[in-house]
Amino acid sequence: MRILKTHVLLRFVNSYIVDSPQPANITYLWNFGSLLATCLVIQILTGAFLAMHYTPNIDFAFNSVEHIMRDVNNGWLIRYTHANVASFFFIFVYLHIGRGLYYSSYKSPRVLVWSIGVIILILMMAIAFLGYVLPYGQMSLWGATVITNLLSAIPVFGQDIVELIWGGFSVGNATLNRFFSLHYLLPFLLAALAVAHLIALHEHGSNNPNGVTSSGDRYAMHPYFVFKDLVTIFAFFLVLSIMVFFYPNVLGHSDNYIPADPMVTPASIVPEWYLLPFYAILRSISNKGLGVIAMFGSLLILLFLPLLDLSRIRGATFRPLMKFAFWALVVDFLILMWIGSQHPEQPFVTIGQFATSFYFAWFLIIVPAVGLIENTLFDVSLDSNRNGNYPFQ
Ligand code: HEM
Repeated sequence: MRILKTHVLLRFVNSYIVDSPQPANITYLWNFGSLLATCLVIQILTGAFLAMHYTPNIDFAFNSVEHIMRDVNNGWLIRYTHANVASFFFIFVYLHIGRGLYYSSYKSPRVLVWSIGVIILILMMAIAFLGYVLPYGQMSLWGATVITNLLSAIPVFGQDIVELIWGGFSVGNATLNRFFSLHYLLPFLLAALAVAHLIALHEHGSNNPNGVTSSGDRYAMHPYFVFKDLVTIFAFFLVLSIMVFFYPNVLGHSDNYIPADPMVTPASIVPEWYLLPFYAILRSISNKGLGVIAMFGSLLILLFLPLLDLSRIRGATFRPLMKFAFWALVVDFLILMWIGSQHPEQPFVTIGQFATSFYFAWFLIIVPAVGLIENTLFDVSLDSNRNGNYPFQ
């Protein structure tokens, strides 16, 4: 045991995952961080093996993926694992963020942890988008065309920037090559950001469901939380196995099994399920430039949450108004996800516009208002306390 505390590297490991004191009352909602780390490791490993057999050329990419599926030993397992873990990565990140929103984990002193998290989220989306282009099916080509074209909304230089990214006058071989290169590179940046996320968290430690300091009641990370994390990691492996072995394509779009054809536009171009809410926000504004601003704004607004939340209380546990507001946001997010998968026609357009308005109103109006109302009620109760009416003097 001593070497764990004296060795220059091991004492680092010790302070993070062995002796690190964790709040005794954190629930299973605090397990998503380790699940996310598990996903990241699986993606980098399976991705490296896929890259050994994949060919980043528009004439061979689709067939090289079929080669992986049919000829490479266990290639189907590696590919289906990579594709399905990408989905689980997003399920976990949305739940991880949801936990952060519910328990106000973004508040001081964890603003840096949260801010790095937001950058991680945006980077994850970019990496997933780049990866989806690689098999070069119909949805790869047309998804890439729609999303890269968004940059043409930038005034003056827009079209030049888009062509610079394409490396030509449409999505083509140069695009596929650079997307492959970046899809391999960026996950390592993601890993570095995840480490920075943990270093920032380590400074003050985890929040907990009560929202007040837990310094008086802590357990060591090992064995208590190491084994608690393993429970959900094994549960994840079980569900992942069911998906990979029995329903490997259920979360994907069948059009991506048609080779990319620049002469045929698919009936509807939809991104993967996890990007749908943001796609819905993009499409809910008919002006292209404003739509792009709204889409990026819907992610970047998360950075301002520590400033927008005026409540003096951390977390929703003791805030009934905030509990209600939180679940309203969850419903709104699900509505946006559904709208993103629909054709842009009535009534979906109008529903999408309401859902988008509510999304921004939640951050800009509801969160500050709930905080102000609570603080005022709190002051009123303190005043009545001074008048001698407060029952717990
Ligand atoms: C690759 C992605 C990510 C990884 C590997 C990761 C990892 C972790 C880990 C291991 C923890 C500590 C355990 C836990 O509370 O679950 C944590 C906490 C936290 N993460 Fe993440 N995270 C990721 C993405 C994000 C994102 C996208 C956000 C927010 C936008 C975020 C915000 C937070 C916050 C606020 C905490 C502190 C929570 C608390 O103590 O209540 N993380 N993260």
